[in-house]
Amino acid sequence: MSQSSLFSRRGALMTALALPLSAGLGAGSSLPAIASNARQAGGANGLVAYYTRTGNTRVIARQISRALGTDIFEIRTVDPYPEDYEEQVAVAEKQRVSGFEPPLAATVPDIRSYETVFLGFPIWGMTAPAMIRSFLSRHDLSGKTLVPFITHGGYGIGQSLKVLADHAPAARLIEGFSKQCDQERETLEEVTRWLGRIEMPG
Ligand SMILES: Cc1cc2nc3c(=O)[nH]c(=O)nc-3n(C[C@H](O)[C@H](O)[C@H](O)COP(=O)(O)O)c2cc1C
Repeated sequence: MSQSSLFSRRGALMTALALPLSAGLGAGSSLPAIASNARQAGGANGLVAYYTRTGNTRVIARQISRALGTDIFEIRTVDPYPEDYEEQVAVAEKQRVSGFEPPLAATVPDIRSYETVFLGFPIWGMTAPAMIRSFLSRHDLSGKTLVPFITHGGYGIGQSLKVLADHAPAARLIEGFSKQCDQERETLEEVTRWLGRIEMPG
């Protein structure tokens, strides 16, 4: 199923795509559940690593980092993703299907010094985006606590926890945070409709 059809048939698919979630990581689960554990594990020993395309995940990343006093690392790919949304969806889908792990622009200096890694990303195509697989392949998280924080456009966290478990099998994956956020597609469509309505001078 293409991402386009997924999004245009949102209502019908909400039920069909209600995939099993790990305890406590359903849409709208709350940060306080992890905060008491996380506070102890944060500070100098904690790292917040995140990827964002449209900024939703960055808001959460910065809040975790500020609240716990951790370092923060933005995951970037060598090759930028397309600016055009439809092209972006196609690239993401291709990378999901092929299992391609795009090269990262940088890796975390001395990942060994962190005991806890908060890993944030948006859901793409019902799972974690490809650069998250790259990140986990390039950083040894064995023995570390891995805390996911995930944003999505309304369909939940899909298969993303399995990706984390598969790519960081020796990390201790604990309860994370997920939140439904704005979808780029909907925002673009609203703006386009509005631009079609207004009368431009001259
Ligand atoms: C290529 C692509 C695929 C997406 N696929 C899904 C999806 O399968 N399910 C979903 O709920 N949201 C999906 N979204 C919406 C994003 O997960 C959501 O808007 C997220 O909050 C974006 O985070 P960011 O602003 O940090 O990039 C997709 C967005 C993009 C760009």
